[in-house]
Amino acid sequence: MTQVSPAQSAEKPAWLDPATKPFIRVEGVTKNFNGFTAVDNVDLEIYQGELFAILGGSGCGKTTLLRILAGFERPTSGRILIDGADMTAVPPYERPVNMMFQSYAVFPHMTVEKNVAYGLKKEGAPKAEIQTRVKEMLELVQLDGFAERKPHQLSGGQRQRVALARALVKRPKVLLLDEPLAALDKKLREHTQFELMNIQDQIGVTFIVVTHDQDEAMTLATRIAVMQAGRFIQCGTPKEIYEYPVNRYVADFFGTINLFEGTVSRVEGEGMEVECGAIDAMVKAKSFETIQPNTRLTIAVRPEKISITKEPPDHNDKSVLKGVVWDLGYHGNLSIYRVKTDSGVIVQVSAQNRIRSAERVLEWDDVVYLSWDVQSSVVLTE
Ligand SMILES: Nc1ncnc2c1ncn2[C@@H]1O[C@H](COP(=O)(O)OP(=O)(O)O)[C@@H](O)[C@H]1O
Ligand SMILES: [Mg+2]
Repeated sequence: MTQVSPAQSAEKPAWLDPATKPFIRVEGVTKNFNGFTAVDNVDLEIYQGELFAILGGSGCGKTTLLRILAGFERPTSGRILIDGADMTAVPPYERPVNMMFQSYAVFPHMTVEKNVAYGLKKEGAPKAEIQTRVKEMLELVQLDGFAERKPHQLSGGQRQRVALARALVKRPKVLLLDEPLAALDKKLREHTQFELMNIQDQIGVTFIVVTHDQDEAMTLATRIAVMQAGRFIQCGTPKEIYEYPVNRYVADFFGTINLFEGTVSRVEGEGMEVECGAIDAMVKAKSFETIQPNTRLTIAVRPEKISITKEPPDHNDKSVLKGVVWDLGYHGNLSIYRVKTDSGVIVQVSAQNRIRSAERVLEWDDVVYLSWDVQSSVVLTE
């Protein structure tokens, strides 16, 4: 019964297809609380069937933005459109939106079944319909068989699924989830991430998930908006954000990255050479922006883009550093090396272990060469 949601199935994703209209439009939304700007001029377009993540540290305005989408909070300026309709004058209960809150928000004294039925009962839906829909939902979240249990007789992950069933039973077009997995421990959280994706995939409802966990956003989302101090600083697919972060903050926020500060010494077309004093190296990079010689900037290089060898690389179109293996860690299919350059800087490198041999090729204190392609140097001017 798996249906692929429209945002993911198309050969061309919805956000790149000019013929597809966004389902949700956030236009210049700002929210002030007594002079404090919690949400600062946010523009956003989300497409039907997306699993969109809003990612940022605590206090950056994520919950406020969700509450504005749900209608619990009025924006100071700007507006929200859902399916083409202006939501400004539409109260929360009339919006095609439902919100799952930060805490589990299940009623402790009610059974699972009654928890899930609650919203429909309150609406006065016919009894038979309530029964069918609750049964459907419990099957969807794999809790058929748990209908008569009370929340305290469930695990954290199961309670979270009750909350999800309760939020979905009213068939919202958009589900807003505020840190849905924050209360679960790491292992359960990872498992539940996949469940959440499967469920969303089966029903095709647009999900907007707020999280402060970058791994979670990377795993779950079709696209991610990175938020900092009320503003969106980058919006893109997980791959785009990982490969092409717009600034140091985003680069550093997602996974491990080596950052080298330097000064542009030579520019030739898109290519340039950057003199990085701290690592005592001339780094090769490319940028689509025009960058003038003598500009100060940062070169970012992901650990997995760096080759580590005992012999110097034979191509001279690479950036090269020399150093010694300072530390190494074996993580199953991956080895992590921390290499100390001659200038004393530690550079992190990761390499896939392709051979199932117990013998390590590189050892502590080995002299090594680190090298990477010009495309692997990400130029950051902010
Ligand atoms: N009702 C409110 N009155 C005053 N300040 C608020 C209110 N709600 C949120 N804030 C402030 O707005 C900022 C953003 O809050 P919030 O949206 O909850 O952040 P997040 O969910 O990203 O942690 C915080 O500094 C918070 O203190
Ligand atoms: Mg919050």
